[in-house]
Amino acid sequence: MSGPHLVLVGLMGAGKTTVGERCARVLDRPFVDTDDLVEATAHATVAEIFEQFGEAHFRVLERQVVADVTASPAPLVIACGGGAVLDAGSRRALHDAGVVVWLQAPTSVLEARVGDGDGRPLLRGGATSTLDRLASQREPMYEAVAHAVVDTAGLTVDEVAETVLAAAEGSDRWSG
Ligand code: S3P
Repeated sequence: MSGPHLVLVGLMGAGKTTVGERCARVLDRPFVDTDDLVEATAHATVAEIFEQFGEAHFRVLERQVVADVTASPAPLVIACGGGAVLDAGSRRALHDAGVVVWLQAPTSVLEARVGDGDGRPLLRGGATSTLDRLASQREPMYEAVAHAVVDTAGLTVDEVAETVLAAAEGSDRWSG
């Protein structure tokens, strides 16, 4: 198999994992989630890594995972942790190795989806204000890395997956 990776980016609660798994099933490709791979590397949960070693250490592991998965010769569906785009090298690697789709939603929608923020250390101080702050900091980065944007508000997981796949398949980059 060859072809570009399908990469999903966006803030926490955007639906990257759920939608990514659905897209991977339809495309019959392996699905990877950068948070899961970081956890496997560190033998610790994301929350434990933040707690014991700090965010900077988590970002180092995340950067390495992004480098590894984007280098995979087999095309993957890659769900990125919300902050994976913070690193310029990771943004370049993701952009160059795939069709990158930014899953967007208003922060009120993201907030409802993340619930009490369990397992997401950055949301401990309060989901609304944090998501608003992260949205304004990161939107330019999501915009820079993405080849397509999907507004997920009001759509079911299946509808988002269909829209993502249509966007990917409509991209010049999909078939080379
Ligand atoms: C983070 C998002 C999380 C996880 C970590 C940090 C972020 O992933 O990587 O808690 O900086 O936005 P999800 O976007 O999959 O929740």
